[in-house]
Amino acid sequence: MRETPWWHDAVVYEIYVRSFADSTGDGIGDLAGIRARLPYLADLGVDAIWLTPFYRSPMADGGYDVADYRDVDPLFGSLDDFDDLVADAHDHGLRLMVDIVPNHSSAAHPWFQKALNAPEGSPERDRYIFRSSPAGRPGTEPNNWLSVFGGPAWTRLPDGQWYLHLFAPQQPDFNWNNPEVREDFLTTLRFWLDRGVDGFRIDVAMGLHKAEGLPDTTIGFGARSPIWSRPEVHQVYREWRELLDSYPGERAAVGEVWTDSAEDLALYVRPDELHQSFNFAWLEAPWSATAFRAVIDATLTAMPAPTWVLSNHDVVRHTTRYAEGAAPSAGLARARAALLTMLFLPGSAYLYQGEELGLTEIKDLPPEVRQDPVFFRTQGAMPGRDGCRVPLPWSGTAPPYGFGPGGTWLPQPAHWAGLTAERQTADPDSTLWFYRRALAARRTLRGTLPDTVTWPDSPADALFLSRGRLISALNCGTEPVRLPPHDRVLISSGPLDGALLPPDTGAWLLRD
Ligand code: NOJ
Repeated sequence: MRETPWWHDAVVYEIYVRSFADSTGDGIGDLAGIRARLPYLADLGVDAIWLTPFYRSPMADGGYDVADYRDVDPLFGSLDDFDDLVADAHDHGLRLMVDIVPNHSSAAHPWFQKALNAPEGSPERDRYIFRSSPAGRPGTEPNNWLSVFGGPAWTRLPDGQWYLHLFAPQQPDFNWNNPEVREDFLTTLRFWLDRGVDGFRIDVAMGLHKAEGLPDTTIGFGARSPIWSRPEVHQVYREWRELLDSYPGERAAVGEVWTDSAEDLALYVRPDELHQSFNFAWLEAPWSATAFRAVIDATLTAMPAPTWVLSNHDVVRHTTRYAEGAAPSAGLARARAALLTMLFLPGSAYLYQGEELGLTEIKDLPPEVRQDPVFFRTQGAMPGRDGCRVPLPWSGTAPPYGFGPGGTWLPQPAHWAGLTAERQTADPDSTLWFYRRALAARRTLRGTLPDTVTWPDSPADALFLSRGRLISALNCGTEPVRLPPHDRVLISSGPLDGALLPPDTGAWLLRD
């Protein structure tokens, strides 16, 4: 019996469902497609998978606009497919987490439809955030809040009232002061827990409650904002924690919390709240030993159960981010090196589908194929997130590269012929094999290392860390650095040069 709960040091693999694997030929990934690829995930060596929303939805935001929280959208399959997937995942030794979207529903949700047809001040409207224009300023938004996706956060109805949507207009924000909203989400959590899920990823976890009076603001994410990280939100997670704890089998929740400090983040993972929250500071850090060190220090000081993540379906893939201002080949070398540092650190790590293939952001998608509302709401000023959501290349030499029997909902580039899972499985030097080896090494060491990280002396542009007899070395500089004293090299992200660690390279070293 392990002494620590599974999520404490799990490696969780994010599946962006519509882009993982398609079983039907409609060009959109689905639950049966995932089920067929479970052996790949088990071979990769991850502990758990997190599925992005697959619920009934008009898909105005890739499914983060939910019309029915307790059913599967026909695009992705059925509840039976879901049950089969849970059972098979468990048979493969994989835990399964699902996404919960509590900040907003779809405008097609029956509650919102009822609200639209109900009068101002009605109980139907009270489940969402409806307001009138400020006194004496008809036609003006109730406050100056902006949508995260661009443009105002308010949409006006023919009767003159406005409703709040922190994201797209098709995603109206719930009123979390309304007890029916709280109750309904508890019902939804129970629904999926009863079906055997091991946990939840909570979308926009810091947004549920807004400050009384909805005052104007220009503050971004963070605890001083009237929009984000309001103290009342923690009561929601206390209730959810009680529910999760009432189920057997260590069910866990990870919050999507964008904030400005590790201290605020830590509030979400107090012992009676969420188990984890994403550590986006790690993802936001530039390629710099100093920046990495600062994030690691702040995280380990503030967080009892740290997490680490480099990419997800909302950000530019880190192979591409790390190549900015450097040679294009540096992106992949750095991504591989950073993986070793991330997997070395105590806590759990979240991977995003395709990073194990070394995929880069697809930047040149033409406007006519783009789907992300961010692109449209900013009139193309922001490219949006489609570039990290292109369907995965599995096999073959031409699109759809084994993604499914039909096409793909976003076009795949020609250079992916060299990056398919099939091609990389046949090449022991591939990024896929590097991920497999790194994950296997982490499993072997798991439970044998102290959680305490110490910092052996290192040159300014390098990062040396140690946990007991394991040392992680990362070179973010432009010159080779001498490796710290060790007996064996366990794994490296690229070739070493004798006792020297080349630039853009990471390694794990053991002292016997
Ligand atoms: C965060 C999700 O990860 C993102 O994809 C979505 O657009 C927003 N929340 C709104 O739900």
